[in-house]
Amino acid sequence: METDKRRVQELAARYVCPGRVRTFRALGVDLVIGRREGYRIWDLDGGELLDLHLNGGVFNLGHRNPELVATLVDALGALDVGNHHFPSAARAELGEALARHTPGALQYSVFASGGGEAIDCALKTARHATKRRKIVSVAKGYHGHTGLALAAGDERFAAMFLSGGPPGEFVQVPWNDLDAMGGALAGGDVAAVVLETIPATLGFPMPAPGYLAGVKALCERHGALYVADEVQTGLGRSGTLWAVEQHGVEPDVLVTGKGLSGGLYPIAATVLTPRVAGWLDEDGWGHVSTFGGAEVGCRVAQRVLEITTRPAAVAGAKDAGERLADGLERIRARHRDWLVEIRRAGLVMGLRFAHPQGGMRMTRALYESGLWAMFAAHDPSVLQFKPGLLADAALCDEILERFEAGVARCLGSAA
Ligand SMILES: Cc1ncc(COP(=O)(O)O)c(C=O)c1O
Repeated sequence: METDKRRVQELAARYVCPGRVRTFRALGVDLVIGRREGYRIWDLDGGELLDLHLNGGVFNLGHRNPELVATLVDALGALDVGNHHFPSAARAELGEALARHTPGALQYSVFASGGGEAIDCALKTARHATKRRKIVSVAKGYHGHTGLALAAGDERFAAMFLSGGPPGEFVQVPWNDLDAMGGALAGGDVAAVVLETIPATLGFPMPAPGYLAGVKALCERHGALYVADEVQTGLGRSGTLWAVEQHGVEPDVLVTGKGLSGGLYPIAATVLTPRVAGWLDEDGWGHVSTFGGAEVGCRVAQRVLEITTRPAAVAGAKDAGERLADGLERIRARHRDWLVEIRRAGLVMGLRFAHPQGGMRMTRALYESGLWAMFAAHDPSVLQFKPGLLADAALCDEILERFEAGVARCLGSAA
């Protein structure tokens, strides 16, 4: 088994991405995922981990959720990816379900094969609707690695691929700073503000009271669109189906991805209000994606929405969030000098530690204690703590037990 693992790592380093293999090795994480079920994953050498990262929410409903596997198998009995040029029952019915489950006037869904592509489509929509080019986003936020999404993200990657556009076209402002946002919008030349409702790569700092509603009001005043990136915070993870709902914001565009796939078939969606969706009428080929809205994926996504909105799932997620928060507070009481802040909205949590690399150190210590959770890329003092929507009480207790063992291991190794 160990040999198998080494062979996969060597192949990956030689044929896929040497930089990633090297970086994880340096972090002390030599994971090659083999078996996976529910919220557990097993390393190829047999080591078991509870998955608290869920690939950003892809596995919100668990790995290989049996209902979703059955839906996919059933869909494969009759369908394939379909032909994106034509109307299809699977796409149309998923579009209808998304319109029903998204806030305000959101109605039309443009399907994509991933979140970055869906963000690109959102920003293209804003440029078409406003006839302006400028995009405002939050410094050190993240919207994917495709063209416009990359340019709206952190300059670490935008600069790497020369994607920032002419100076002043992609403007970044600090999170939770309404004055800075007002300044960026004041010129009346901004097409869209794109915001993660709770920015993951920043370690899930919560929106200050009134911040998101304030941004929406500024967008309305200055004729810019509000694009809600709910790729990580959507689908019940924050305590409501979409995190923006808690902030009284009805976005012009909402982007969902990751968990929409059920972890089984890639799919994402850009949901538009009719007011901004003019291009869909003007030229239906304004955005084309061969695999976006693959029919078998649509069937899975529709089931994801149905499972996520079941009253029992909503109540269970609330209980799990509270049980974990209580447990984390108890652990914090015992380690006040180390675990300095618990940020939480539902199951979206960021734990800040008393060292600039604290979240990164915890990633390794937790890995060695049987928990897979990752630090926030743009603030490594924070650990992203992202349990799944269907976590039960026993799983929450097991998570807490392993987490506390990880804290002890981390503090022990630092001593
Ligand atoms: C908030 C957010 N937006 C967009 C994306 C891009 O999604 P994808 O990797 O599917 O392109 C991600 C991916 O991590 C994300 O976390």
